[in-house]
Amino acid sequence: MKTTAWLLAAGLSVGLCMGGGVVTAQAHETLKLEAPKPNLLPAPPMGWNSWNKYACNITEDVVRKQADAMAASGLKDAGYQYIVIDDCWQKSRDADGNIQVDLERFPSGMKALIDYVHSKGLKFGLYSDAGSLTCGGRPGSAGHEFQDARQYARWGVDYLKYDWCYTGTRDAEAAYTIMAKALRESGRDIVLSICEWGDNYPQRWAAPIGHLWRTTGDIYDAWEGKKGYSIGMVNILDKQLDLWRYSGPNRWNDPDMLEVGNGGMTSTEYESHFSLWAMLAAPLIAGNDLSAMDADTLRILTNKDVIAIDQDPLGQQANRIWKEGDLEIWARPLKGGDQAVVLFNRGAAPAEMSVTWEQLNLPAGLKVQVKDLWSKKVTKNVKARFGGTVASHGVIMVRLTPMV
Ligand code: GLA
Repeated sequence: MKTTAWLLAAGLSVGLCMGGGVVTAQAHETLKLEAPKPNLLPAPPMGWNSWNKYACNITEDVVRKQADAMAASGLKDAGYQYIVIDDCWQKSRDADGNIQVDLERFPSGMKALIDYVHSKGLKFGLYSDAGSLTCGGRPGSAGHEFQDARQYARWGVDYLKYDWCYTGTRDAEAAYTIMAKALRESGRDIVLSICEWGDNYPQRWAAPIGHLWRTTGDIYDAWEGKKGYSIGMVNILDKQLDLWRYSGPNRWNDPDMLEVGNGGMTSTEYESHFSLWAMLAAPLIAGNDLSAMDADTLRILTNKDVIAIDQDPLGQQANRIWKEGDLEIWARPLKGGDQAVVLFNRGAAPAEMSVTWEQLNLPAGLKVQVKDLWSKKVTKNVKARFGGTVASHGVIMVRLTPMV
C-alpha cells in the first residue's frame, strides 16, 4: 500500500534523526511485512513482569527468584509462562551500536539468565522502546531495530515489550512495523507486545504487526485514582468499553499488568481485578514478588476456573451489557456455547444483583448449570435469572452452561 510505504519511510527517517543511531543496510530495505505474524499467542499471554513491583530496581537475582517461584509455586502449572524484564536492564551501546547489559545489576549477562529461565521450562521476555531512549532513560531501539532484534534472537528472547517514550513525531504504525519486521527476520519466534498506551488507536492498525497492544497508560496498585501518569484499576477498566470487537487470538487488547499481591488493594478488590482482566481476555502478567507471596495472592493468581475464562479458545473479549449506578454486568461468550458473567459492585455497600437470560440472549425457559468460579458452588437447572449478594468492590463471577 502506497500510503503505508510512505508512512514507513517517514517514520524511519525521523527515528534515525532522533536516535542518532548508525544507519545500517537494513534501514534501506522495503518496509513491508512479508513474513506472516507467527502464531504465538492463540490465547492471551500469562507470565510475570518486573515493572509493577521493582521498576528500575531490577536485578538478576530477583529475576532468578521469580523464575524459581513460578516453576515451584503452582503458577507454571496454572499456565504462567513468560518471565519478562521490563525497563532498566540496558546500560549503553558499544562503538558498533550493540546494546550493552547493565552488568552491575545483571553480572552473569543476559544469555546466562535467559538460559536459566529456559531451564525451568519457562519463556523469557525483554523490554525496549521505539524512541531514542526508554521511559527510564536507557538506550532505546530507534535506528537499531534490526541489530537489537538479532541480538534478542541470539540471546533466546521469546517476547519483546516495545514502549513509546522519546519517539517525538514518529508515526506509531510505522515505528512498530519496523520492529515487527526486524523480529520476523531475526531467526527466532518472538512475541511483539506493543506499548504505546492506546494513544494512536492501536486497535485500528496493530493486529497485523503485534500480538497485543496496550489500550491505556499505566496501572498503579489502587482501586481508583491517579498518580502521575498512572491510574487505578477501575479507571483502567473504564477505558476498555467497546474494545472487544478488535481483540482475538494473536491480537489482544492489553489493559496493563496485574497488581494482585502488591498490597494496595483488598483481597476482594484483587479478586475483582483478576476476574475482570480474565473477562477482558487480558494478558495475565503478574506484577508482584512471586518469591514472597502469601497464600491468598497465590489462590487468586491460580484460580483455574477464572484462568480458563481468560484463555478460552474462542478468544472473544467481554463487554459490559448493563450498568446502573455502581452496579455492572459484564458478559463473555465462550467456545461451545457457554458464557462467563461477572456481576460487579463498585459501591460502598453490598448489593443484590442478578442477570437475566434475556440479557444474555438465552431463552428464559432454558435450564442452565451455573458455576460460581470463586466459591466453586455449582447450581443446576437454573431458569430465567441468576444472582446473589455482591460484596462492596466485589464480583460474583460465574460460568453458565446450557443443560440439554
Ligand atoms: C512505560 C510503560 C510501563 C513501563 C515503563 C518503564 O511507562 O507503559 O509499562 O514499561 O514505561 O519505564
